[in-house]
Amino acid sequence: MHPRNVLEDDAGYQEDGKGIVGNIKCGDEMVVAIKVDKKKGTIADCKWKTYGCASAIASTSILSEIVKGMTLDEAYHITAKDIAKELGGLPEHKIHCSVLGHKALRAAIEDYYTRNGMTDKVEREKEHVICQCMNVTDIEIEHAVLEGAKTYLELQERTKLGTVCGQCKDKAIKLLEDYKKKHFAK
Ligand code: FES
Repeated sequence: MHPRNVLEDDAGYQEDGKGIVGNIKCGDEMVVAIKVDKKKGTIADCKWKTYGCASAIASTSILSEIVKGMTLDEAYHITAKDIAKELGGLPEHKIHCSVLGHKALRAAIEDYYTRNGMTDKVEREKEHVICQCMNVTDIEIEHAVLEGAKTYLELQERTKLGTVCGQCKDKAIKLLEDYKKKHFAK
């Protein structure tokens, strides 16, 4: 009911990095803007705005609080699980809503790196294609897991990976297990 750090004045906020994800046509667009303490390499301020659901609002509100003072690297690597924990829990089918704010935060950090000539950092975090035939990346696999895929079959239903030559199966199963552990293991 009382989200913190909402970006009220887009034009007047002199951000060092800005990330926009989602699609306004689907109603889930998210904007995150950060100010960076350049000497310390930490996030000095974080503001956001969304048309997403209540879970996205609550998750991004708490995210914007906890990242202040974190290094860019720490903030980049926060997980959906960390955010849900700070909130005191989120229903499993809403976990993916907490990803929206963090995706925009990552984009804002990458934007900061790009503006400051540190593109090597951005490259390092780029996604990798796991299924060549269907062009499915590790990031898409992670999102499918966050949206509820628990078995290889469910992963296939959502992403269509592994439906042609099948060579990506072992790699995909390994990633599926890793992401389940990352986001859902207690
Ligand atoms: S590499 Fe995934 S189906 Fe061929």
